[in-house]
Amino acid sequence: MVASSKGGAGKTTLCMVIASEMSRQGIELTIIDADPNQHFADWGRDAGFKNVISSSQNNIITDIKEAQTKTAFVIVDLEGTANVTMGYAINLSDFVVIPCQTSDLDGKEAVKVINFIREQDEFKASATKFAILRTKTSALRPTNIEKALIDDFKSIGCKVLKNRLLELVAYRTIISNRCMLHDLKTTTKKQEEAKQNAIEIAHDITLEIVEMAVEEVKVKNVKELQDA
Ligand SMILES: Nc1ncnc2c1ncn2[C@@H]1O[C@H](COP(=O)(O)OP(=O)(O)OP(=O)(O)O)[C@@H](O)[C@H]1O
Ligand SMILES: [Mg+2]
Repeated sequence: MVASSKGGAGKTTLCMVIASEMSRQGIELTIIDADPNQHFADWGRDAGFKNVISSSQNNIITDIKEAQTKTAFVIVDLEGTANVTMGYAINLSDFVVIPCQTSDLDGKEAVKVINFIREQDEFKASATKFAILRTKTSALRPTNIEKALIDDFKSIGCKVLKNRLLELVAYRTIISNRCMLHDLKTTTKKQEEAKQNAIEIAHDITLEIVEMAVEEVKVKNVKELQDA
């Protein structure tokens, strides 16, 4: 699940990038879009995904639970506010990714989501796992602000994913062309290289997220067996 209380942090783009890469790998997934704008769901249908659900506060719980029984992965996109829908989705998620641009203000917004997740934990048997993903970054080495931000997150016990989602034209183009990354049409060698680079980054990020989510599911399953 992808959550951020800040508009424009790159949630929907990240959802599309992960969905696209999973599809390229032949992994079955469900797209759930609880943002009234419905950009993720509209894109998913046009890009050719089979399982796309337009959700809302009223049916997000049933939608997520049902999807979890049908496909190995469920990706949930939300609007940029910490609201009831976000609370429901967090509680049903095995792993929450918080996209964050690398500035102090964006960092503060990400901390709000972390606090929101931790508040939800008060009502649960086990804490929700989450991590920060740096988004819209440049390919250059991390700046001092970015390094300080990573240290701040780590000091409050929050994981920061190793991979970063770079700001790339390909990630904007999949939205306007309403297609998956690997379906982007290229006409020049330079465009093809840019596309392959975007796919490679999508691959690394998806793998890192999937590994963390799967690890969490394993831990939960062991706990359930021990409690049984
Ligand atoms: N990695 C990226 N590379 C290039 N452009 C990006 C990237 N991530 C986001 N963008 C652009 O930034 C803008 C906002 O991104 P996006 O819609 O994904 O954010 P959001 O967090 O879902 O916003 P909202 O809160 O409005 O739902 C879009 O124009 C998108 O194309
Ligand atoms: Mg969005």
